Amino acid sequence: MDKKTLIKKLNGDLAEEFGAIIQYITYAAKATGPYRPQLAQFFLSELPDEQMHAQYLANKIVALGGEPTLEAAPVPEARTNRDMVEAVLGAERGATRRYTERAREAEEFGDKGLAVQLEDMVRDESGHSEETERILREWPL
Ligand SMILES: [Fe+2]
Ligand SMILES: [Fe+2]
Repeated sequence: MDKKTLIKKLNGDLAEEFGAIIQYITYAAKATGPYRPQLAQFFLSELPDEQMHAQYLANKIVALGGEPTLEAAPVPEARTNRDMVEAVLGAERGATRRYTERAREAEEFGDKGLAVQLEDMVRDESGHSEETERILREWPL
């Protein structure tokens, strides 16, 4: 894995984190019904982690000599509360997979600090997916 490829992949991850931030802010606004307070609070509670991930990635990209992207990955459209929670589960599982792969690539590149940080992010994202998965269990309808 050369530096240029690694920077490109980290920029892809940064765009996904920007997308996650947009996703949580807009979904929190769109949550409706009797469970609105809990759902909005749940979406907003994920935001600080995603912001920290985005900040870390932007800093690391600059440290490696790259230019951080200004693009955000597209947010899946979701109309109902359940659609939103399912879209969040898909996004968090995707993030867990991406950072697992990226940690391996950072190790291969020889940047132990980056590899360790990416593994921390695997822990955060898998925590987010487990929490989301439990919300979907026995969803009231
Ligand atoms: Fe994240
Ligand atoms: Fe997350």
